[in-house]
Amino acid sequence: MEKWKKWKKWKSGRSGAPGYDVRVPQKSPVSLTTHDHVALITIDNPPVNALGPEVVDGLSQAIAEVARDPGIRAAVVIGAGRTFVAGADIKGLEQLAWGSETGLPEMHDPLQRIEDLPKPVVMAMHGTALGGGLELAMAGHYRVAVPDAQMGQPEVNLGIIPGAEGTQRLPRLVGMDKAIEMCVSGKPIKARDALAAGLIDRIVEGDLATAAMAFAREMAEAARPLPKTRDRIDRLPSREQLPAMLQAGRELARKTRRNLEAPLAVVDALEAAATLPFDEGCQKEREVFFTCVRSDQAKALIYAFFAERGASRVPGVTKDTRATTVSSVAIVGAGTMGGGIAMACANAGLNVRLTDATQGALDAGLATIKKNYDVSVARGRFTPAMVDERLARIQAQVGYGGFDKADLIIEAVFENMALKKEIASALDAVARPDCIVATNTSTLNIDEIAAAARRPATVVGLHFFSPANVMRLVEIVRGAATSSETIATALTVAKRLGKVGVVVGNCPGFVGNRMMFPYMYEAQFLVEDGATPEQVDRALTDFGMAMGIFAVDDMAGLDVAWRVRKELNQFSEPGARKPLVSDALCEMGRFGQKAGKGWYQYGADRKAVPDADVLALIERLASGAGITRRSFTAAEIVERTIYALINEGARVLDEGYALRAADIDVIYLSGYGFPAWRGGPMFYADRVGLNTVYERVAAFHRDLGDRWTPAPLLERLAREGRTFQEFDRSRAGSELAAPRA
Ligand code: 3HC
Repeated sequence: MEKWKKWKKWKSGRSGAPGYDVRVPQKSPVSLTTHDHVALITIDNPPVNALGPEVVDGLSQAIAEVARDPGIRAAVVIGAGRTFVAGADIKGLEQLAWGSETGLPEMHDPLQRIEDLPKPVVMAMHGTALGGGLELAMAGHYRVAVPDAQMGQPEVNLGIIPGAEGTQRLPRLVGMDKAIEMCVSGKPIKARDALAAGLIDRIVEGDLATAAMAFAREMAEAARPLPKTRDRIDRLPSREQLPAMLQAGRELARKTRRNLEAPLAVVDALEAAATLPFDEGCQKEREVFFTCVRSDQAKALIYAFFAERGASRVPGVTKDTRATTVSSVAIVGAGTMGGGIAMACANAGLNVRLTDATQGALDAGLATIKKNYDVSVARGRFTPAMVDERLARIQAQVGYGGFDKADLIIEAVFENMALKKEIASALDAVARPDCIVATNTSTLNIDEIAAAARRPATVVGLHFFSPANVMRLVEIVRGAATSSETIATALTVAKRLGKVGVVVGNCPGFVGNRMMFPYMYEAQFLVEDGATPEQVDRALTDFGMAMGIFAVDDMAGLDVAWRVRKELNQFSEPGARKPLVSDALCEMGRFGQKAGKGWYQYGADRKAVPDADVLALIERLASGAGITRRSFTAAEIVERTIYALINEGARVLDEGYALRAADIDVIYLSGYGFPAWRGGPMFYADRVGLNTVYERVAAFHRDLGDRWTPAPLLERLAREGRTFQEFDRSRAGSELAAPRA
């Protein structure tokens, strides 16, 4: 009744305009206007028209109006702004995940009422119709989309399955195989693919609302009955065909979505579409949905979704902060990093000037870029034409000619302070005054580099991760003088490159690598103490890490950490335990994959094979140092390594080099292969319980020495019974720490 009263408040406007009647609801995100007997229902809930309760309420009322008004012959549902509906409101899902009984509006009735309307309802899609957005669209009688629209069921990426009947309607429209592929991968498909699959009825050019309303009028004239997705069975598999499809779907889930529960669970719900009547299938979907949404994985993945978006909120950077528009980039250094960054920029449509000291180095860099693109073509990621277009954007040259036209210069030479300073000073002479000068360093002091430039406010660290054209993370290192405008530009560039930019403070190793050192060295101490590299790596990959730490070290090159150890003068404190094996391996030239051997040995297939020589070396060095070796369980290995990461993370946070624990999690999820379904190291610590983590760290401190001194913040939060998430909430708006001396 209440809803009805609210609906009554809608008022007519623009009266007198023939065939054009505007009905504007009071404060509703859904409005209805009529245009020559077609209702245009517009969802306007910025930024992405998420299906919050008000939207669903407004939609229900609009549908009721369409049903009631004899003058309306058809309806179009459209999204205002940049997109159709991008899904259910994930804030509501978050509440559900953490135990609230509410949080997600009931969708069954509104969807059924749309489908039961005796007048055609056309869903008009642009932008991204995702999750609940696509589920809404599938309840319409017809769907049209603009050519660059995308549609998908990405719920598994949040640890859940579609919860608004998507698992029941999607296979009815596109068939079981395609529905499994879409729901398990969570990847959206483009309009052309959607048309071919039967998900949409037409691709329309020009103004979407006009075209969709014309289509709706056409359908209002056409013969009845109106197609209801829920009644369709023509694309559902037979009982004989189904088992093989489900088995393939479950294999796909296990293979491509390792350790994730939702991609397997979604296949159970899809199975119900082919074995149960529609309403019972929906019931099954609901049961699976609620099991998933309350799971630890959903909590972690939903947390990770917001953590990633929160990373761009940086004190001092507001919507009004003026960011330089970057369309041309100059890169110094055509090596692995410079070449990868050039590819990332070219892929994003930016023009690149790539320079190196000699023509030989430049040719070698370009050859690597071409080789990498060839691999992309072979894997079907790019067509040869797309590669040609990208290569044409990269102009290779010796010297700084034309650098005065660049909006952004990225120096990506190897880690050597003297060289980086020399280049910073040379760039200063050629760069435009408003050009941002970034240095791609993984460990060096940004302030020292900036001091070599006359305009340190425009100097920033952009720490890309290798391979830079693939890895999503960029640490944006803010120096003492870096301006907010420079940070805003860096954040915008990271987004343009399809990467996640996280602003960090200037300390040795910044955030990611600083935390990596104790993690990596603890793994090395473990092998000296009796574990094997293979055991450590297996414990870590079983925990969910994308790779074991020794495999990572071999891939990155042992010489890299060797150089950093010397540059940062690590293990110089008296009494500090120094790892014994890595220096010895480096002295033997065992630099990892590139040398064919490191912690492991490698054949042509680049597969890591345990090496008896390394095991013998470890035993010899350990016994020479008087270490009593013993065996370790996987749980012990995980605690010694992951808790080392967490303890250092707490220190980084306390010292202010990371703005939030959530930023640390984003760094580890997007740059270091930490399993997303565990939310990141800090979120994982919260879930284990900070008191439990602290007690173990304190025990390691007693048994293993001062390197395990508990971080004061970890100790404090553990004693107060708080979490890192609560700490983040209490500190919203804090500044990054003062830069290092
Ligand atoms: N709910 C709530 N907020 C959302 C949202 C959603 N579904 N989708 C995006 N947002 C918010 C983001 O948090 C961000 O907010 P902020 O500006 O305050 O940080 C803002 O919208 C813009 O998002 P992005 O920065 O990600 O913008 P992009 O343009 O890069 O990407 C997007 C847009 C492709 C829509 C991307 O945001 C996205 O993938 N969103 C999630 C889509 C999704 O997973 N939908 C399914 C939800 S679950 C569901 O529908 C369950 C159903 O089956 C019942």
